[in-house]
Amino acid sequence: MESYIANIVKKVISLIYLIKRAFKDHFEDMILKLYTTYLLQASYSFYTWPSAPVLAWFIWENRQEFYGKKVLELGSGTALPGILAAKCGADVTLTESATLPKSLSHTRRSCQVNNLTINKHIRVIGLSWGLFLSNLDLLGPVDYVIGSDCFFEPSTFEDILVTVAYLLDNNINAKFFCTYQERSSDWSIEHLLLKWDLECIVHSINNLGNSVGLNIHDLIGDHSVHLLEISRKS
Ligand SMILES: C[S@@+](CC[C@H](N)C(=O)[O-])C[C@H]1O[C@@H](n2cnc3c(N)ncnc32)[C@H](O)[C@@H]1O
Repeated sequence: MESYIANIVKKVISLIYLIKRAFKDHFEDMILKLYTTYLLQASYSFYTWPSAPVLAWFIWENRQEFYGKKVLELGSGTALPGILAAKCGADVTLTESATLPKSLSHTRRSCQVNNLTINKHIRVIGLSWGLFLSNLDLLGPVDYVIGSDCFFEPSTFEDILVTVAYLLDNNINAKFFCTYQERSSDWSIEHLLLKWDLECIVHSINNLGNSVGLNIHDLIGDHSVHLLEISRKS
């Protein structure tokens, strides 16, 4: 455990840029700092991907809508969007692959460094895309499913959307907000949306942060990040 912790470099992610400008203008006496934990070994879940601050920023700008809502994050990793949602008053369950115990521990650790007590302020459970384990039935109602950079490997796209379709079937008004990083223009989820009876709106991210003078592209560098809203076909 000690070596595990020793391997973790706690970084104050410069959500200070995210937070500082926003809070300075809107809530002068309030500062929200979020921390993410980086584990010095190569794995997708131990790093905060560029899609995460974009989704976090979207949630921040829509925080009144998320307040009090039941939010489920898929493929949380360091869980920046889900943790932000919890800090904004949402009732959040973070999920990570049930077959990756170290990743699940890392997600729990992200909660702890942000002073969120598990099972009190937030929940963390194992949820593997495309697998319908019994804990899915225990979830209860969900208003928003969120996920950042889950579409990083085409072989899992259908598993993600099967899980999303199941959750949206059980929560008829729920929506899935997700951000993804464009890694190849050949990759598409369009046929899978059709197959699983889902529809999708692409939201522009260009105006995110404008109200506080933030250029969202400063957060993502040269990466192309997109924001999707997926729901059941009406
Ligand atoms: C590219 S990372 C994104 C992590 C985080 N959401 C972010 O944006 O920083 C993809 C995440 O999906 C998780 N993941 C990969 N395969 C999965 C599966 N089959 N079921 C559930 N989660 C999975 C990984 O462990 C990892 O945390």
